[in-house]
Amino acid sequence: MKILVIHGPNLNLLGNRENHIYGGNTLDFINTEIEKEAIRLGAEVETFQSNHEGAIIDKLHLAGPRFDYIIINPGAYTHYSYAIRDAVAAVKVPTIEVHLSNVHSREEFRSHSVIAPVCVGQISGFSYHSYLLALKYAVEHI
Ligand code: DQA
Repeated sequence: MKILVIHGPNLNLLGNRENHIYGGNTLDFINTEIEKEAIRLGAEVETFQSNHEGAIIDKLHLAGPRFDYIIINPGAYTHYSYAIRDAVAAVKVPTIEVHLSNVHSREEFRSHSVIAPVCVGQISGFSYHSYLLALKYAVEHI
């Protein structure tokens, strides 16, 4: 069971980025929690972060033959990147969209995702537990 976790733009700043919204945990802490949960569930995870749309798309293309499931937090790309949406649809690897914050309780533009319609589902608002919940679902459905 191989699962790819992709973190989008600005998530490298976690721990020092609007902590009242995203919490004080760093991305390294979150990746460690993801890796611990994967070991507990008997899965293998690779984590990847980029601030660049093209790099995220390249990673999605490579995921095609190599991974059983993808978990993606596309950051602000969630709301407007048709290119990432098309990549998710093209690779045919089941994908879950996750968010740390509850995107539906914030500015109006955040409640719309152009990527969620090509995903299995969206998990939003549970801080880093959004990733762990997605991982649990993925492992049970591979
Ligand atoms: C986010 C929500 C997005 O709206 C925002 O642009 C982010 C983080 C989240 O995890 O809550 O960068 O994806």
